[in-house]
Amino acid sequence: MQNGLEGVVVAETLTSSVDGEAGELIIGGRAVGDLSGVVPFERVCGLMWERDVEVAVPLGAARARAFERLPDLGRALSLADGMDALRASVAQLDDTSREGVTGAVAVFAAAWSRTRRGLDPIAPDPEAAHAADYLRMLHGDAPTDGAAAAMDAYFAAVVDHGMNASTFAARVVASTESDRVSSVVAAIGALKGRLHGGAPGPVLDMLDAVGAPERAEAWVREALDAKERIMGMGHRVYRVRDPRAAVLERAVEQLDSVADPARLALARAVEQAAERQLRERKPDRPLRANVEFYTALLLEALGIERALFTPTFACARVVGWCAHYDEQRAEGRLIRPRARYVGPRPEAAPALRSRAG
Ligand code: COA
Repeated sequence: MQNGLEGVVVAETLTSSVDGEAGELIIGGRAVGDLSGVVPFERVCGLMWERDVEVAVPLGAARARAFERLPDLGRALSLADGMDALRASVAQLDDTSREGVTGAVAVFAAAWSRTRRGLDPIAPDPEAAHAADYLRMLHGDAPTDGAAAAMDAYFAAVVDHGMNASTFAARVVASTESDRVSSVVAAIGALKGRLHGGAPGPVLDMLDAVGAPERAEAWVREALDAKERIMGMGHRVYRVRDPRAAVLERAVEQLDSVADPARLALARAVEQAAERQLRERKPDRPLRANVEFYTALLLEALGIERALFTPTFACARVVGWCAHYDEQRAEGRLIRPRARYVGPRPEAAPALRSRAG
């Protein structure tokens, strides 16, 4: 059943545009393929926030400030789930600038990962590029140029994506004239779910279960016969292959020094099998690879553990949330949809037992 919001326009935006029929994603006025891997993440932030404002210096400073806050976060960074940790740590921020929140998400995500691995968090380098610094805070060493470029390309590709669930959550909170941190915390909660940001980990679990390209067809058939969903396939808006899948697949290919070619071959076999079988079973509903499919491969190749995939997604998407927060505050109108009541009318409702009875 549709929830009544399909296709409903709830805001005007300068941030991004998604054309699901054509498979076109425009971010800050550019096609995603001309942005990701081409324009550095900091400039993408500038495009999203203020038509090309310079953010590298304030973003680096914000990472440094966020790191200073780590000792005050209590249990937040020892929570078992990375998105719970992010929600609990971001909720304590008092720096409510766009750069402040964006810098903090990367620092907190990296610190959570280090903490769960029994390692001390690593201080950011405010001079470094945001994506490269994220990898350095995770792994301890400065990344290779190729790895830094791939991380940067990923961040740019997923920075914003129309009125997706987490962005809508952020805008609803902003529309009540609440603060930016509350808006971002709501968005983190929405992103946590596996139908939104939680799919790339399960994509790798699936690849592990399939094991070899020649097993892909049989594995997909069994999964679909058991009424399971193939992770990384299908999209609410796209009726063609998600354009970000192509961008990220290219980024994985270019990472040949780090990526495992056999893994890429396995992923392509599973994608082809899933696409073909889903087309047979659902001829009226095109179900093709979405962003999560090649996100999984890319983040794995960058040495990022599965549990950190969704927090890493949040590191980029927070830029979009912040832009939407500002737009919604500027618009200044409460978002208040309606629900269609399908319960009984008072005259037909069963009698309630009185307190005495
Ligand atoms: N594997 C198998 N079947 C799928 C499917 C998938 N990945 N995605 C959708 N379908 C099927 C549904 O079961 C449904 O079948 P039915 O009509 O027999 O019930 C039909 O296609 C339509 O699905 P629907 O739930 O209406 O699509 P949606 O627009 O609500 O779902 C997603 C979009 C993304 C939630 C859905 O495609 C999905 O669950 N994908 C896997 C999770 C994922 O990759 N999430 C990341 C999104 S970026």
